[in-house]
Amino acid sequence: MSSKKNGVSRRDVMKTTSGLAVAGVLGSVAIPAVHAAADETIRVALVGCGGRGNGAAENALLTNKLGPIKLVAMADVFQSRIDSSYNFLSKRFPKQIEAPVERRFLGFDGYKKAMDSLQKGDIVILTTPPAFRWVMFTYAIEKGLNVFMEKPIAVDGPSGRKMLKLAQESENRKLKVGVGLMCRHCEARGEMFKRIKDGQIGDLVLLRAYRQAGPTGSAFVGRKPADKNELLYQIQNFHGFLWASGGAVSDFLIHNIDECCWMKDAWPVSAKAAGGRHYRGDNVDQNFDTYSIEYTFGDGAKLLVEGRTMPGCHQEFASYAHGTRGSAVISTSGHTPCHCKLFKDQKNLPRGGSPIWEFGREEPNPYQLEWNDLVTAVRQDRPYNEVKRGAEASLVTAMGRMAAHTGRVITLEQMRDCEHEFAPQVAELTFDAPAPLQAGKDGKYPVPEPGKKIRREF
Ligand SMILES: NC(=O)c1ccc[n+]([C@@H]2O[C@H](COP(=O)([O-])OP(=O)(O)OC[C@H]3O[C@@H](n4cnc5c(N)ncnc54)[C@H](O)[C@@H]3O)[C@@H](O)[C@H]2O)c1
Repeated sequence: MSSKKNGVSRRDVMKTTSGLAVAGVLGSVAIPAVHAAADETIRVALVGCGGRGNGAAENALLTNKLGPIKLVAMADVFQSRIDSSYNFLSKRFPKQIEAPVERRFLGFDGYKKAMDSLQKGDIVILTTPPAFRWVMFTYAIEKGLNVFMEKPIAVDGPSGRKMLKLAQESENRKLKVGVGLMCRHCEARGEMFKRIKDGQIGDLVLLRAYRQAGPTGSAFVGRKPADKNELLYQIQNFHGFLWASGGAVSDFLIHNIDECCWMKDAWPVSAKAAGGRHYRGDNVDQNFDTYSIEYTFGDGAKLLVEGRTMPGCHQEFASYAHGTRGSAVISTSGHTPCHCKLFKDQKNLPRGGSPIWEFGREEPNPYQLEWNDLVTAVRQDRPYNEVKRGAEASLVTAMGRMAAHTGRVITLEQMRDCEHEFAPQVAELTFDAPAPLQAGKDGKYPVPEPGKKIRREF
């Protein structure tokens, strides 16, 4: 394995440095700016030590069959999160955690310090709420770091445009960047995609996606306790605030939207949608509790998406495709295993009949596969950058959300060019800063009002 980082392999560096040291001419020669440790070890920093951060760090450390990898730095805005993540990971991977207390950083600038602990070609994990993605990715590019970042990677038009620009910049610098749309790495879906492209169910004319569940994540947020820092309260409840996460649509529906668009092999060009706040009680977040989105593709095909966070209703977490000569289950119940299948007609979805194809063996975990793919690309210096696709998926998802929130048909261009930046100050936040969203005198935050607020979502 050549293990190249930034075009120069770790082995090349070792050869070069040892030869030069013998010749005694170190001072007069430019040493390539690659991993100074000159070994095969990839060092990882974790920024955002929450649920998914722990999971991504686990997946990263489990790639040790491909070569040595260790966690050397952590950052978060809650000390309790750093502590619990450190305790969990150091018990699970006692030999791969080398993040002493002086490399565990608390604060809004902690991400910089964690990345400063790495060297060019190492990997930083960005698993904070999505609002911070472009800020942290900008710094990672400056530092020459490879990146794994969770979805969604943009919450509004301005952050979508920033990420598209950064995508290009990171590609120019040959950085390897994974985006946590892990279903794209699923072997079963991958095989089905090829079969659909081969025409086994004809042309796709309709796709459908459902994420209908009870209250999910922090989609419902109660009033802020009087003694609580408002910024931290919004960050802790980030699904409830559009600036922090893009809300329930962006956070929860993106995977199903993305897997449908993958099978269609296209992004939709416009969206119309409806939704409402039915049972909000005393909750003060910005979400609707139902969303019905109709996306239209360039060839006129449709993608219907149903999102709901309401107890006592039908529940479904699945995606389907309908072609001119058959139909497909893209995912059955959650992200993995997907149990995808092809049928020769329309009447057998979701589970009946005899499929004309199914994967037929155990599905490897796509959360692990996406890491194996990223780390292999880093070690072999292969082109690998998912940011453009991740930004497009984030903007397509936001387009459906904006259509519901404004009550208007929204095109992809309108979404991308939208000037409403939810949190222009996100790069400058500190513990004392005012929260990007301010409550009114009644303690409630501004919410979407379709038909009334039509150029902004709130
Ligand atoms: N791919 C998937 O299936 C999947 C699953 C779950 C979550 N996610 C994504 O992962 C991200 C995190 O979600 P989660 O469920 O882990 O949330 P979480 O709240 O458990 O973790 C987020 C962490 O980031 C920290 N944080 C917030 N702002 C920060 C900042 N400015 N600097 C440093 N740390 C900061 C928080 O304190 C928290 O510990 C989201 O984008 C979410 O959509 C993806």
